[in-house]
Amino acid sequence: MSEDARRVRMAEALLRHFSACVKSVQLYAPEHPLVKRAVDQLAESFERAHVESEELVIGLIDHQAVVDGVPLLATPGVSETVERLQALGAERLAFRRGLTPDELLAFVRQLGARPALSGDRRDDRLAALSSPHVTVGRLTLQRQIDADCCDVAAMREHYGQAVAGAEALWDQARAEGSPDPNAAIALVDGLASAIGENPRAMLALAALHRYDNYTFTHMVNVSVLTMAQARSLGITGTLLRQFGLAGLMHDIGKIRTPAEILTKSDRLTDAEFAVMMRHPLDGAEILRRRLDLPPLAAVVALEHHLRIDRTGYPAGVERSSLNLATQLCSIADVYDAMRSQRAYQRAFPTDRIMAVLQQHDRKRFDDRLVRRFGQLMGVYPIGNIVRLDNGSLAVVTRIHAPDPARPAVRVVVDPSGKRLDRPYDLALWTEEGRDGPPPRIVVPVDPDEAGFDPLAYLDGAAA
Ligand SMILES: [Fe+2]
Ligand SMILES: [Fe+2]
Repeated sequence: MSEDARRVRMAEALLRHFSACVKSVQLYAPEHPLVKRAVDQLAESFERAHVESEELVIGLIDHQAVVDGVPLLATPGVSETVERLQALGAERLAFRRGLTPDELLAFVRQLGARPALSGDRRDDRLAALSSPHVTVGRLTLQRQIDADCCDVAAMREHYGQAVAGAEALWDQARAEGSPDPNAAIALVDGLASAIGENPRAMLALAALHRYDNYTFTHMVNVSVLTMAQARSLGITGTLLRQFGLAGLMHDIGKIRTPAEILTKSDRLTDAEFAVMMRHPLDGAEILRRRLDLPPLAAVVALEHHLRIDRTGYPAGVERSSLNLATQLCSIADVYDAMRSQRAYQRAFPTDRIMAVLQQHDRKRFDDRLVRRFGQLMGVYPIGNIVRLDNGSLAVVTRIHAPDPARPAVRVVVDPSGKRLDRPYDLALWTEEGRDGPPPRIVVPVDPDEAGFDPLAYLDGAAA
């Protein structure tokens, strides 16, 4: 059995035992032998998982459980447990090594209790689930997003190499009919480690890069933005790279789209659009033939223009829900397409893009995933130049997840239009600054208009 298959099996067993335990405490007294057996089985599952890692994390996203980074499709018994947890507001459950059967019993009794009988408030019930080896709370964005230091020059070079790699991969795939899996995997490995090293700079590059070669930057950006979202949901390791690969390859079906349609600078005619719309099916077919690539890539290529309200294309795809990787990739895809400069369409300002994504809540995208994307990217992404209401210009240096419209910035140009010798940092979300309330952002500003390179101001910015 492969390492991935083993992890999936382990995660499934754990969740099954978990649900069996909740059921048993609802049916029998805590001292009943069947309850004891169910708790012992669950404790054993945790023990096995804790051999490999100190902590096992279960994340709950959109009625789906992600156990130790493995997203699992919910079966009926398990769904009930997931729903109970979500009803209490639980999004992230961490179980640490040393967990005792008594702690587990207390946990499942609390979870299985009927709210009407327990009489407690939702927050109190959520707090009561935690114990010395169990922490229950909400999902938070990974700390590294803020805590890294920026070596922007190295990251810029890395990003440039990735775009060149994507171009080479595209040309090779176009010539040979399918992509070279080793080149694709190496490219994603490089991007995944760059995101691990310096997520702020990589997100800034993906969110701001100027396009003269849209197809290849789009491949890289969708891969980066998909992985960044997946990381923020607790997905790591092999699975994270599979999400990245799926993002990189989502439009690979376009190698079969005639170049005159692909590069047309005017709006496509209906007939041309119909040809363009074939790329999800073509992509899935191309990737499905490559047994050396993970099947997730073909699934995402097929699904990435399908929406959760069952609109989109290709038509006639039978499905009960969309894969989590597809949903993250679609958000990244729409975001990147809207902010890129195409000949027939001016790039949307970043604040407008977030508003559009949010408008599509529940129709095209899951609202919780869009909300998280907003917390990750901010309304004005890292590296954006913004005009403040006192007239100065500043570069966004850090997103403040609780208030994505009010980030930390580095002020570069003063209200009179003079470039500062010593730029200074401001936290815009605070109530009171040194001289009263901090200024507010009025509008994002195009770097060409501002006349300076914002990324140069990320180096050494207060994290
Ligand atoms: Fe597409
Ligand atoms: Fe795309």
